[in-house]
Amino acid sequence: MILLRAFIAIEIPEEIKTQIGSQTAGLRQMVGRSVRWVSLENIHLTLKFLGDISPANIEFLTQALKTEVSQYLSFEINMDHLGAFPNLRRPRVIWIGLDAPADLARLHHSLETAAARLGYASDDKPFSPHLTIGRIRDRLSAQEAQSLREALENTKIGSLGKFVVKSVNLFQSELKPAGPVYTCISTAALGG
Ligand code: 2AM
Repeated sequence: MILLRAFIAIEIPEEIKTQIGSQTAGLRQMVGRSVRWVSLENIHLTLKFLGDISPANIEFLTQALKTEVSQYLSFEINMDHLGAFPNLRRPRVIWIGLDAPADLARLHHSLETAAARLGYASDDKPFSPHLTIGRIRDRLSAQEAQSLREALENTKIGSLGKFVVKSVNLFQSELKPAGPVYTCISTAALGG
């Protein structure tokens, strides 16, 4: 059976993606080929990576998503700083951080629990909401790693804007040679 790769995420408004693009333009230029940047259109806030799912389960998943998401009222998220996993001194993933009310973590927990009930593996890492904007290439030279650290430490990101989360999407991810293509399969609206 053909499986599809799927994840649950919050779509980010265009204005915020544009802000991310302009406020990170200098960084992108400074670090050159050391980072594989996520294209602006692909930036999103992942709540649950499901991995390979059977197309036959899309309906159950969508129903579970709608049930869980509808129990929350819309809330505001504020995007505002730059960070890296595991940290800025030894970056592997570069991200934009955010301020959100406790409902974001509760929503994440509800989705983890619902997905586990449907048989999808739980994530063992604590929830750390972020927008991945770049991934560091393997095997950087010492010089490249040093320049990257300096560029990250010297980049100051101001407010990137806030937005009200009104829905959560189930996305398909297709890994293509030119980069991943994410397509929305279904949408669940928050209550209120
Ligand atoms: P990330 O933003 O932290 O990289 C689609 O692949 C999304 O699912 C990515 O944004 C990625 O989150 C998230 N994800 C979480 N776990 C993953 C995994 N094991 N493999 C691929 N993507 C994963």
